[in-house]
Amino acid sequence: MSKRVSILFVCLGNICRSPTAHGIFQKYVEDAGLTDRIEIDSAGTGGWHVGESPDPRAQRAAGSRGYDLSHIRARQAKPDDFHAFDYVLAMDRQNLHDLKEIQPADAKGELRLFLEFGQRFSADEVPDPYYGGHDGFEQVLDLVEDACEGLLQTLKEQHL
Ligand code: 4NP
Repeated sequence: MSKRVSILFVCLGNICRSPTAHGIFQKYVEDAGLTDRIEIDSAGTGGWHVGESPDPRAQRAAGSRGYDLSHIRARQAKPDDFHAFDYVLAMDRQNLHDLKEIQPADAKGELRLFLEFGQRFSADEVPDPYYGGHDGFEQVLDLVEDACEGLLQTLKEQHL
């Protein structure tokens, strides 16, 4: 009876931005009572950090706003993800470009920039915080929280 929708968040390393989106969206979905309707995962276009937990700086920043990222392990995005997920959401334009390179022609997954779902900010990319300071991780949280709100609203209106 009820429809299910699946979301894959993708960045470069899958240790900063996409696990942050994964953990935040998971909390929003839980709070909305929709865990059995919305499937969430994250991945990186690169494979350097496969198997690792999210960056400790990302975990600390997210933890201070009440989000737990500790269960997430990095994995690399693969062509089959476009068959398995309804939405493949890229954190920046480079991620979008790299994902297009592995997207099968017949896949169902809709490939978009994640911040298309944002409402409060004009940015269309989530800046990579890896080589910067704490402020970068706070900016990631602000942008990701906003886009997660918009994404949940869109899913409720169009899919659930
Ligand atoms: P993420 O950040 O793509 O948000 O997970 C990065 C993590 C690692 C690297 C770059 C960005 N790296 O070059 O190892």
